[in-house]
Amino acid sequence: MKILITGGCGFVGSNLSIFLKRYLNNSKIFTIDNFIRPGSKIRYKRNKLYNIKNFKVDISNYKSVMMLPKFDLIIDCCAEAAVADSIKKPKKVFDTNLVGTFNIISKCKTDKSDIIFLSTSRVYSIDLLKKIDLKKIKLKKLRNLSIKENYDVSGIKSLYGFTKLSSEDLIKEYNYSNNLKYIINRFGVISGPWQFGYEDQGFVSLWVASHLLKKKLKYIGFGGSGHQMRDVIHIDDVCQIILLQIKNMHQIYNVTFNIGGGLKNLISLKKLTNLCELITKNKIKFTPIKKTSLFDIPIFLTNNSKIKKYYNWQPQKKIDLIVKDIYNWMIKHEKVINKNF
Ligand SMILES: NC(=O)c1ccc[n+]([C@@H]2O[C@H](COP(=O)([O-])OP(=O)(O)OC[C@H]3O[C@@H](n4cnc5c(N)ncnc54)[C@H](O)[C@@H]3O)[C@@H](O)[C@H]2O)c1
Repeated sequence: MKILITGGCGFVGSNLSIFLKRYLNNSKIFTIDNFIRPGSKIRYKRNKLYNIKNFKVDISNYKSVMMLPKFDLIIDCCAEAAVADSIKKPKKVFDTNLVGTFNIISKCKTDKSDIIFLSTSRVYSIDLLKKIDLKKIKLKKLRNLSIKENYDVSGIKSLYGFTKLSSEDLIKEYNYSNNLKYIINRFGVISGPWQFGYEDQGFVSLWVASHLLKKKLKYIGFGGSGHQMRDVIHIDDVCQIILLQIKNMHQIYNVTFNIGGGLKNLISLKKLTNLCELITKNKIKFTPIKKTSLFDIPIFLTNNSKIKKYYNWQPQKKIDLIVKDIYNWMIKHEKVINKNF
């Protein structure tokens, strides 16, 4: 089987390429990446060690995408993936995320390839999520806040979320008219080694790096309390479930899943700080910023019951292991970390 991974030198795409190369026998893995995101060139060099060929193509360029060779499966991991970019660079977000999906699905139509699309929990409307009061959340009732696939997507969600939801719709249109097989995975926060974290993308690795390098951090929003929470999934768990999906694509397809770390991996920024202090043995300064960013939400917790039911699968790696894995990777690649954080 010939597989193309778009955004294949990104955090998810590169880890997935190497994982599939290792565990999917008789498959050839190729990537598309134009190296626009910082860190992508470093991961490209790593991919090359595994003989993974990259096409340096801008996904928003229709002609370039259509000129690529034929693939049996495209795994679309290419995006401007930060919510903050919805405001900072809307055209780039629109072109890469939505025009890019149009080009990829057109390529799938021509070649009759299947598609696995990496979507996001950000497709859900933030109207109600924003109103959750962190102070009133009861620990025992947290499970009730978990988000299923049928949660409201009709309201405001950021341009990032809009382009991902519209991409999902586009894929379903092409499925209806051209019989293309698809799987849509709406992931929550993904983290692990080879993620270069920033304030607006990859906060777990940013936290570990800042502790390791003794750099200051900010608690942004929600009164600067650091009490906002997310469930985090390890990149290895992401790779495992996608491998299962590929192996079962002949019988499970045309479905949308929520996939995340779940209740056991739900963590607040404050708790993440404690964990980083424990693992790195360093304490750093935090500046509280009271004002909440426009699209920020106090909590997101994934409901994994559908993915569990379909594949008898659930994430294995707990949050403390995620932090430890990132820490060990950083210790091993000190020079790269010093340069990129
Ligand atoms: N990381 C997460 O926590 C997370 C959570 C939910 C969903 N996702 C989704 O997973 C996918 C991968 O995310 P990631 O964290 O690996 O992001 P990333 O920024 O690390 O990787 C994206 C890659 O795409 C490349 N790229 C960007 N624009 C391009 C263009 N126009 N043409 C060609 N290449 C381009 C970048 O250079 C980068 O290497 C995205 O679709 C994202 O929406 C990620």
